[in-house]
Amino acid sequence: MSDVVSYQIVDNIGVVSVNSPPVNALSQKVREGILSAVTAAQGDASEAIVLRCDGRTFIAGADITEFGKPPMAPGLPEVLSAIENSSKPVIAAIHGTALGGGFEVSLACHYRCAIASAKVGLPEVKLGLLPGAGGTQRVPRIAGVKAALDMITSGNPVSAKTALGMGLIDEVISNDDLQAGAVQYAKDLVASGAPLRRIRDITIDPATVEPGFFDAARKKLAARARGAIAPDKIVSCIEAAVELPMDKGLERERELFTELVTSPESAAMRHIFFAERLAAKIKDLPKDTVLRDIKKVAIIGGGTMGGGIAMCFANVGIPVVMVEVTDEALQRGLGIIKKNYSITVQKGKLAEDQMEGLLGLISGTTDYNDIADVDMVIEAVYENLELKKQIFAKLDGVCKQGAILASNTSYQDIDQIAAATKRPQDVLGLHFFSPANVMKLLEVVRGEKTADDVLATSMAIGKKIQKVCALSRVCYGFIGNRMLGGYGRESQMLLMDGCLPTQVDSALEGFGMAMGPLAMGDLAGLDVGYKARQGRTDLPDDPKLYRMGTLLVEMGRHGQKTGAGFYKYDPETRRRLADPIVEGMIVDESNKLDIERREIDNEEILARCLYPLINEGALILEEGIAQRSSDIDIVYVFGYAFPAAKGGPMHYADHVGLKHVYDKMCEYRDLYGEQYWKPAPLLKELAESGKTFAQWDKERGAS
Ligand code: 3HC
Repeated sequence: MSDVVSYQIVDNIGVVSVNSPPVNALSQKVREGILSAVTAAQGDASEAIVLRCDGRTFIAGADITEFGKPPMAPGLPEVLSAIENSSKPVIAAIHGTALGGGFEVSLACHYRCAIASAKVGLPEVKLGLLPGAGGTQRVPRIAGVKAALDMITSGNPVSAKTALGMGLIDEVISNDDLQAGAVQYAKDLVASGAPLRRIRDITIDPATVEPGFFDAARKKLAARARGAIAPDKIVSCIEAAVELPMDKGLERERELFTELVTSPESAAMRHIFFAERLAAKIKDLPKDTVLRDIKKVAIIGGGTMGGGIAMCFANVGIPVVMVEVTDEALQRGLGIIKKNYSITVQKGKLAEDQMEGLLGLISGTTDYNDIADVDMVIEAVYENLELKKQIFAKLDGVCKQGAILASNTSYQDIDQIAAATKRPQDVLGLHFFSPANVMKLLEVVRGEKTADDVLATSMAIGKKIQKVCALSRVCYGFIGNRMLGGYGRESQMLLMDGCLPTQVDSALEGFGMAMGPLAMGDLAGLDVGYKARQGRTDLPDDPKLYRMGTLLVEMGRHGQKTGAGFYKYDPETRRRLADPIVEGMIVDESNKLDIERREIDNEEILARCLYPLINEGALILEEGIAQRSSDIDIVYVFGYAFPAAKGGPMHYADHVGLKHVYDKMCEYRDLYGEQYWKPAPLLKELAESGKTFAQWDKERGAS
């Protein structure tokens, strides 16, 4: 039929097989192949048609690489019409993940069967899109409006069992051989005279949707949209499924899909999809690097961080030993882990016996000799270089040869830590983000002497514990924290120049950050930055610099943990509230410094907070700290809640134009001084040549 779609008749059933690795995405060739197979089957001796896939999964969606390029016939709607209008029943046989356009293909079939481990879903929203091949019209017709809305706006797939309960599939096949099971299911349908069931023929009674349902959904989704525009349009499509006939609903869906596929938001989210996969690839590492076996892990330090990291490993079945200095500290650490799991049990997301199983994987000790047999150690004690060096010297003494020795440090020099051992090739940084069992990012820090297989193994283990890994070289703060410097500084400078905390934070939250920088400071603890500044000799002697942060700490306002910082916090709800005391102080302090306060608009707030971050990113790139600009985007989206709909700071900079960013940097340099506003040479070079960071990546073979 074609090199990606084949057709044969098995036991009177026409079997269409898609074989287009890695995920059988609906490329032009696959669409064409399915269309000709289904068309050919109309005139042959087959009694029904089974649509199945080879390889690891059923069709996982449209081919994302085709978006933004001129459309190529046949379009997906044409393929779906051919299936739906087939004179013989078409049955989708699902394994792996039937996602997006793949699931929509199955919804155009007359029946769907799946193996128990299969999942189905419409994840388009995660790419800034909506299902564009009838998903928004067909799912509400069979699963109901509310279930459809939840499924399509969350983008989360459901298991075969759940899908069966929702009516999204008709049969779970118990036969290990899906093709044989599906052929038998097709024969049974034919034998029982099952009709050509078309989802399009179902109508939804508008009276079954409670008044105000769609408005309420829009409001709820807007509150958590963070710059994404797809969720609102998904609501419009589902509304159309209720109010309009099928073909009109499909037209509406297509129109809104087309709007989204050309939007900068979707371009940004598709960039993140590919950047996430690219970040896992280390440019200069041989593909055939043999990985070390990681069967048991030790965590040094039973604090919040150590406990969270231990949970990550236990969650994927890897036994963990937690090491603490005293038995009391150890019991406290193990107790926190138990409490965290219990909360998940209370929420109904974990069964009691599963929790016991997980806790059974986590043991504790106060004796380093007990970790002689582990394959990987992650040190997670507080930030003190001398202490970390002592610990690594001790680990060098007890750990077996070949064990990977990692530090979870956020700032310290991995090479100095490695030098405390006689095996620096086994040492690297694995920087988790708090809470470690929740946050997706893992910065993998490559020391001067880190061995290739240590890096490759760490990237693989990061993926196994379900983290998104990004590689960094050694520098103060690595990629993420190093870039935060100017962002935090300017958020406070703006207060002195005319803003109040709510204004700064709402501008950044309006942009899509999960939390504004000042509220973030309150959450992390203002004393943390205060203490870090005490030890620094490189900061300019400027009374304006971090003035409010310093004064607040000295007043005992350390942020959320003391109930007050830039904001005050409702003791019951922990909601942040503007504090007139702080607002008054801000105005007084500006006056003391003879600063004439002025109106500052959101555009300036965004530029002053985000452009220093981007500028530092450019320095990080030219110094070779990050492999590529898209890795920096991954660090920010997964570690610092930068909005995916903006694609990360470097993609955002490409979008607004590097010339604009550079010009603004120069404008602020002339206003506020070069000690704060010094454009990176790479930013200048790209701005002058009219290039983007993405082009720079490409020219270096990094993308
Ligand atoms: N189009 C093109 N390439 C795709 C793709 C797609 N839909 N889905 C995955 N790939 C590529 C990946 O980029 C990766 O390429 P690489 O090896 O060069 O890095 C390769 O396939 C393997 O992907 P993963 O590394 O993600 O493999 P996993 O096994 O971890 O995950 C998966 C498999 C669950 C299918 C995951 O790839 C996934 O979630 N894919 C995206 C699914 C999706 O979003 N579908 C909707 C697309 S939009 C759509 O269908 C519009 C329609 O409504 C009209």
